[in-house]
Amino acid sequence: MKYEYSKLCSRTSKSEIREILKWTRKPGVISFGGGLPDPSLFPLQEITDITADVLAKKGYLALQYGPTRGEAEMLEALVEHMGAFGDIATTEEVCITSSSQQGLDLLSLLFIDEGAPIVLELPSYMGGIQVFKRCGADMHGIPLDNDGMKIDLLVKKLDQLKNEGKKPRFIYTIPDFQNPAGVTMSLERRKKLVEIAHQREILLIEDSPYRELSFTGELLPSLWTLAGGKGIIMMKTFSKVLFPGMRMGWLVGDKEIMDNIDTVKQSVDLCTPSFNQLILAGFIKKGKMKETIEKAIACYKPKSTAMLAALEKYMPGGVSWSKPTGGMFLWVVLPSHIDTKEIFLTAIEHNVAYVIGRPFHCDNSGSNTMRLNYSFPSIEQIDKGIKQLGDAIKQVI
Ligand SMILES: Cc1ncc(COP(=O)(O)O)c(C=O)c1O
Repeated sequence: MKYEYSKLCSRTSKSEIREILKWTRKPGVISFGGGLPDPSLFPLQEITDITADVLAKKGYLALQYGPTRGEAEMLEALVEHMGAFGDIATTEEVCITSSSQQGLDLLSLLFIDEGAPIVLELPSYMGGIQVFKRCGADMHGIPLDNDGMKIDLLVKKLDQLKNEGKKPRFIYTIPDFQNPAGVTMSLERRKKLVEIAHQREILLIEDSPYRELSFTGELLPSLWTLAGGKGIIMMKTFSKVLFPGMRMGWLVGDKEIMDNIDTVKQSVDLCTPSFNQLILAGFIKKGKMKETIEKAIACYKPKSTAMLAALEKYMPGGVSWSKPTGGMFLWVVLPSHIDTKEIFLTAIEHNVAYVIGRPFHCDNSGSNTMRLNYSFPSIEQIDKGIKQLGDAIKQVI
């Protein structure tokens, strides 16, 4: 039988990166490829204890269907957690999701029609690009520098679209410790971005999985805060600050948006598992979230320092990289004639893997770029792996 698939299905392409990351299973390869937290941070005993407690005390609630927007206990815990990082919201402004990837899915269902223009960073999160492409969005990329999205280029793009009679459905940005570039949007640009979005009545989507992972202790106000919670949706997840295995995240937005998200989420999965919510609510209430985040910062900060030092030591001239002050990634730019996909197998011969940069670009540019992850490998692997990467790049240069 010839199956007839939907248009949406034909627009959903397999991740190119997943295909090439198969090579990382070759014995001896040091991988800077994935975006995985260090598993030594996973609080196994605490989760075991809290799970037993939830089953003993609230088992009938935990194993039942729950409200689409989330369990009250969880919503309250999240509002408290965000408050500790300067982001004030009410429980009515929060909706629990099955992680941020579902957040992106819900927002695309809510806001993107085929051909609708949207604006995002260049480069941006690949999983976001995959969702937007699936919906048939008309994606417009705005280049980044060390201070985040270039606002002058954003204004130019918005003017150009306006002249064509188009208005973006939203501007999607990752202001803190961006994936993949590892850069953070400056305060000045944050203020300008919010001002422009408000003036032109364009929705902002602030994807914020890494915000809590600041190595300097310094935290700029979120776009959510600067926008006063109006005309903006913030996306949050436990995946990077805690662990991804429970697939738990949340969206924050005004009441009107939340009502619509509630309706769309009902059609997607009815609700996110109450069991997971009650466990994580217990975890946060015991102060364990704060503790785990502090441990993660203490673990990732020296790893990022080690990677920066190794790049300095082993990279040939003509190669540059970002200097993250938080998060999990660092971005490397090679001379323009080198294609990081073409040299990937040379890197594998040198027993090191990375993620090629092009799939992070909605316009297919960036073939001379790569993303390196430092949260998963050990400090020893970082030094050895960057040396091997340096050798591979010297060979092709
Ligand atoms: C910017 C960004 N958004 C969303 C996600 C999705 O994360 P999750 O679905 O695990 O919450 C990721 C994961 O890497 C990410 O980096």
